[in-house]
Amino acid sequence: MPPMHHPVKLVPSDNIRVPDDFELNDEGQIDCVTCHGIEDIEEIPLDEVNKNDEKFFRGGPYEKLTDFCFQCHRKKDSERPNIHMLRDSRGELKKEQCLFCHREKPDEKGDGFDDVEFRIEPEDLCYGCHLEAPHLNAANHIRKPDEKMRRRIREAEEKHGVILPLDAQGRIMCATCHSPHQAGVIDRNKPAGRQVEDANLDEGIAYQAHPWNAVYQADKRDRLKALHEELGEAGKNAVLPDYQRIKAEVLLRLSARDGTLCLSCHVFEK
Ligand code: HEC
Ligand code: HEC
Ligand code: HEC
Ligand code: HEC
Ligand code: HEC
Ligand code: HEC
Repeated sequence: MPPMHHPVKLVPSDNIRVPDDFELNDEGQIDCVTCHGIEDIEEIPLDEVNKNDEKFFRGGPYEKLTDFCFQCHRKKDSERPNIHMLRDSRGELKKEQCLFCHREKPDEKGDGFDDVEFRIEPEDLCYGCHLEAPHLNAANHIRKPDEKMRRRIREAEEKHGVILPLDAQGRIMCATCHSPHQAGVIDRNKPAGRQVEDANLDEGIAYQAHPWNAVYQADKRDRLKALHEELGEAGKNAVLPDYQRIKAEVLLRLSARDGTLCLSCHVFEK
């Protein structure tokens, strides 16, 4: 068996719902035949198993591996709780959740940036749970803005009454653009509490298709083709994500949908 393989030969508990056409073994356990459609997979040497075979996963091929997992596992049980939802249904603060990031529960009304203590440096906090490149243009924003941009940032902070905090080395961090707190947790009269009202934090960010995508894809077609040729086999799956518009924003200090966030730092030619 490959390392980190899924556990086998277990009788499913009540938390698992195995579809009828996923055969169990004679002992009622999940076994090779339950998950793999390749006949006698256990007899085939590991390096000869064709993982690209449509039958490799029973009921496959699946667009995403997790679609396969959710054949048996309940999706809701596997979701990570959105720890940014810091109020319960009655509007009370979920104080224990502050401790994901803060050493002690801060006073949301009185404490400022210099009063709160973090478990690790604020610029590293997010990487405990998020990828370093959670979206296009996230990782390449972790830079030090030049003096001209820093002036622009200070002007924007004043104009909009918000904070766009840089890290101790003067670099942009995730929390420069994002507020880690659900809107309304920090007093809305404080700059740290002024942020875009969350559309629906449970649903998260929502995007919508836009006709401009056709133009965008056509514009990049030649460059993508060149990239495929340059990378060969390694690049054959490289695709251009669709151009989409933001429909609903969450956890942002200023709106990106109308450009206010971007224009706090950038100047665009008209
Ligand atoms: C509960 C479902 C499940 C069961 C039961 C199961 N597998 Fe798998 N198997 C998987 C998943 C999921 C993967 C990994 C997919 C990945 O990470 O790409 C996998 C991968 C494999 C691979 C390819 C490993 C590689 O990286 O090349 C082999 C070979 C394999 N399983 C053999 C078996 C054998 C033999 C049995 C029975 C002893 C078995 N599996 C039982 C789900 C299952
Ligand atoms: C054929 C059904 C089936 C499929 C498909 C399946 N699992 Fe499981 N999985 C089980 C069963 C049964 C257990 C044993 C625990 C139980 O019965 O509650 C289990 C246990 C686990 C566990 C151990 C922790 C726990 O929840 O008890 C993990 C982690 C896990 N599965 C992940 C995955 C992932 C990831 C995939 C997809 C790649 C996957 N499973 C696909 C049936 C399945
Ligand atoms: C996901 C990480 C995270 C969680 C969870 C979190 N915070 Fe914070 N908090 C931060 C970061 C990063 C800052 C610094 C940037 C800022 O002020 O927004 C901060 C700053 C603050 C500040 C100072 C605001 C100011 O005026 O500069 C207060 C007060 C605060 N947090 C209260 C709380 C409370 C109360 C909770 C729990 C209900 C909480 N935080 C949960 C990451 C978090
Ligand atoms: C303890 C884990 C944890 C930490 C630390 C954390 N996050 Fe999250 N974050 C989550 C989870 C869980 C979600 C819910 C959606 C998901 O599963 O990705 C989420 C969602 C988000 C979303 C909304 C995405 C969406 O569409 O739902 C943003 C934006 C975000 N986090 C930014 C940050 C930033 C910025 C930091 C650092 C200041 C941070 N997070 C720190 C766990 C964490
Ligand atoms: C230059 C500003 C900026 C920086 C820096 C930035 N983000 Fe974002 N992020 C955005 C915008 C804009 C969106 C989409 C709109 C929204 O949040 O509602 C977004 C979306 C997200 C999402 C949801 C992605 C999705 O499509 O579901 C997560 C998660 C996230 N950011 C985490 C992070 C983390 C972690 C970092 C630090 C590595 C980071 N962001 C750095 C501006 C930024
Ligand atoms: C806090 C300041 C800040 C904000 C807010 C900001 N940017 Fe940037 N952006 C930078 C810095 C710094 C760079 C690094 C290059 C430079 O010095 O111009 C950069 C670079 C870029 C690049 C070039 C990336 C590369 O690989 O070279 C793009 C594209 C971009 N930003 C778009 C945006 C968009 C779109 C938004 C709004 C969603 C945004 N930025 C918000 C500061 C910011």
